[in-house]
Amino acid sequence: MKQKTTENIFNAFIGEAKAYFRLLAYAEQATTEGEVQLALLFKAIAEAERVHATRQLNLVKEIVVKDTDTNLENSFQREKSISENAYPEFLKDAEEEGETAAALVFSQARDVEGFHAKLYERAIYNAIKMKVKAYHVCQVCGYVADKEVRKECPVCGAPKDKFKTIDV
Ligand SMILES: [Fe+2]
Ligand SMILES: [Fe+2]
Repeated sequence: MKQKTTENIFNAFIGEAKAYFRLLAYAEQATTEGEVQLALLFKAIAEAERVHATRQLNLVKEIVVKDTDTNLENSFQREKSISENAYPEFLKDAEEEGETAAALVFSQARDVEGFHAKLYERAIYNAIKMKVKAYHVCQVCGYVADKEVRKECPVCGAPKDKFKTIDV
């Protein structure tokens, strides 16, 4: 793939991926306003943008998606980097600006990404080899547990029923 086209595909992908989430938020807003028909429209177009994003990602698949060992290592490095670099900086800025809600989100994301990195690390060292039957993902902060959560999320304190189970 030539350079300009590759760049354009990546930009288009980012735009479509953002649109997906933005339109779902618009749908939610429309629902709150009792605009059922418009909520449906936003949801349908969100789904279409998801299709676009997936299709564009497929065009650059060989750049983005490698073999599983490499994908695992890349995912570990990314998690480590965002939890050690990006989120601590975002947190610092939010605290300096007195943005407490954002500061909480960033600090929990920083912690959770660190846990994600640990899960990948464990997988890299083969410690999980199909021993995990299901993962449980906190729908508030994104904490991922490899066992059922006993009471509440260790990062954000959300109750057990806020966890979504991801199994095979
Ligand atoms: Fe993560
Ligand atoms: Fe949580």
